[in-house]
Amino acid sequence: MQSVDWLWLMHPALAVVLVYPLLGMVLRLAQQTRDRRLTQAKHPPTVGRDHADLGKWLAGSVVGIVLLAEAVVIATKHSLSSFEGGVGRLAPLLLVLVGSGVALASLWRVKRPVYRASFALLCWAGVIGLGLQPEVFRLSDNPFDPAFWQSHFWGGIGLSGLMLFSVACRPEIHKHLRWRRLHVSANALAALIFLAQGISGPRDLLEIPLNWQKPTLYGCNFEARTCPAPAPSSATP
Ligand code: HEM
Ligand code: HEM
Repeated sequence: MQSVDWLWLMHPALAVVLVYPLLGMVLRLAQQTRDRRLTQAKHPPTVGRDHADLGKWLAGSVVGIVLLAEAVVIATKHSLSSFEGGVGRLAPLLLVLVGSGVALASLWRVKRPVYRASFALLCWAGVIGLGLQPEVFRLSDNPFDPAFWQSHFWGGIGLSGLMLFSVACRPEIHKHLRWRRLHVSANALAALIFLAQGISGPRDLLEIPLNWQKPTLYGCNFEARTCPAPAPSSATP
């Protein structure tokens, strides 16, 4: 494997070793929080706070691995010296990447609702803006096309939006039953998207060749499932 292959591997590896274990803990604590409230089950009083604290880390790591995947795809599609649009395009893209990270870090700290909403939206806008660059592969952009619903990219965008939303409305979930219900419904959907990402991610991993194989394999017609005949090897007698 070349260094560029290792870069491409960082996103799936972090999803497997960081995001999904965190998700398991967040889901277990969510169930205990609900049980404790509705059935007075004997769970420690800290389960709600632990759920929300780990939820914050889950949201941060989802947004983090999405930004990482987008940055790697954009930066390595062509060599940086032949980057499409040159420095005039690279510089604003870098700014969006850093800005999204700063917005996420600020979202963790600010208290007033208007700031929480603004930083969550800013961060999500950055994630979407980077994702819409032509280097980032998307199965389809048309919601009426079944391929859209199988897209790893759009799943990632939806999931990061839902995670940011949960972090942004954390105090409201504590205070109002209506927000708590909205949180549970939104995150039941998020749990389904996590499942879908766990399937579409490995599917994409199967489809992406190693860097040295790309020139040959991208000569194939993926619709017709045909590849050009290999050049005769000089080693054959
Ligand atoms: C897949 C992800 C998640 C699921 C399925 C989930 C689900 C739940 C459930 C079932 C409850 C209990 C609701 C009740 O008492 O009826 C809850 C509470 C809560 N969740 Fe989440 N949640 C998720 C992620 C998050 C995230 C990312 C945050 C962000 C910080 C968060 C913040 C909270 C808060 C603040 C509470 C109230 C805790 C308390 O009562 O002390 N959740 N969640
Ligand atoms: C929380 C779960 C995940 C989210 C939110 C997520 C999101 C994304 C996004 C937005 C992209 C960029 C668009 C694209 O190139 O398709 C991407 C790329 C990719 N994802 Fe995921 N993903 C998740 C989990 C996984 C898993 C579990 C795997 C495989 C084991 C995986 C494999 C890939 C691969 C191979 C790429 C291509 C680019 C790269 O490797 O950097 N993803 N993902």
